[in-house]
Amino acid sequence: MGRFDGRVAYVLGGGSDGPARPGEDLPMGNGRAIALRLAAEGARVVVGDLDLERAEQTVAHLATPGLAVRVDAADPDDCAAAVRAAEGLGDGLDVVVCNVGVSGREPLKVQSVAEWDLAGSVNVRSHWLTAQAALAGMLDRGRGAFVFVGSTAGMWSSRRSLSYEATKAAQLAVMRHVAVRYGSRGIRANAAVLGNIDSALVRREFGEAGAARGAVAPMGREGTPEEVAAAVAFLASDDAGYVTGQSLLVDGGVSAAWPAPPVVPA
Ligand SMILES: NC(=O)c1ccc[n+]([C@@H]2O[C@H](COP(=O)([O-])OP(=O)(O)OC[C@H]3O[C@@H](n4cnc5c(N)ncnc54)[C@H](O)[C@@H]3O)[C@@H](O)[C@H]2O)c1
Repeated sequence: MGRFDGRVAYVLGGGSDGPARPGEDLPMGNGRAIALRLAAEGARVVVGDLDLERAEQTVAHLATPGLAVRVDAADPDDCAAAVRAAEGLGDGLDVVVCNVGVSGREPLKVQSVAEWDLAGSVNVRSHWLTAQAALAGMLDRGRGAFVFVGSTAGMWSSRRSLSYEATKAAQLAVMRHVAVRYGSRGIRANAAVLGNIDSALVRREFGEAGAARGAVAPMGREGTPEEVAAAVAFLASDDAGYVTGQSLLVDGGVSAAWPAPPVVPA
């Protein structure tokens, strides 16, 4: 028996691009790993992505029959239409995972309106629009779980992109609003807040420097998309039945440590 038997989940941003891990063919990102995990535990999964082929590639690897939909998260109409399509896969949506997110490169001195607006529309607006579209059906059924895929950059500055930090902080505000406003009606909302993860995205952006970024974690390594998926599956499942409004840090201990040089274990 799986934790998601008979349930339908929608993963926004469930494709993946960038290079695959050495020795693997399928590029593995957080959204893709989440879709695979939910299906492995019994869910029927709808995968939304800007690139339909990437969504289809994920669906082809699911353990249960799924559905791929093309959705541009930056387009409000697309966000709502994708939810409608996802609801059509079963009797309604049980789980919605807002994973899509674009990173940026610009600190304040050079922050452009274009990058700010893209981050705002993809990292935050698409998440509230998706939640809003899914909420009505969930309220009718008296149950539903949202998981937002966040970043430690939304809690502490990553010294990199202002638009990313600001939108990831706002995303957590959306999560808390959903949790607090609709908690009494059977709706839960939480965030998996990620540190350095060895995802296709990071391999594309940082190449071999990704491993060095991971080394700053007390655990001495990057996390994996599969470890992210395990945390998301927990938050989406009944095992987290009394957990809502929370940010679960999936960061290898980064947030628990004062940034000092590593100490040799006694
Ligand atoms: N990897 C890390 O270290 C790390 C750290 C912190 C947070 N995160 C978060 O993880 C999430 C993404 O991770 P991933 O591994 O799934 O990324 P990924 O790059 O593997 O996949 C992202 C998918 O999103 C799709 N996409 C991009 N723009 C889109 C749009 N406008 N509409 C719809 N789909 C779009 C891409 O086509 C791609 O398939 C983001 O929210 C990111 O902020 C990652």
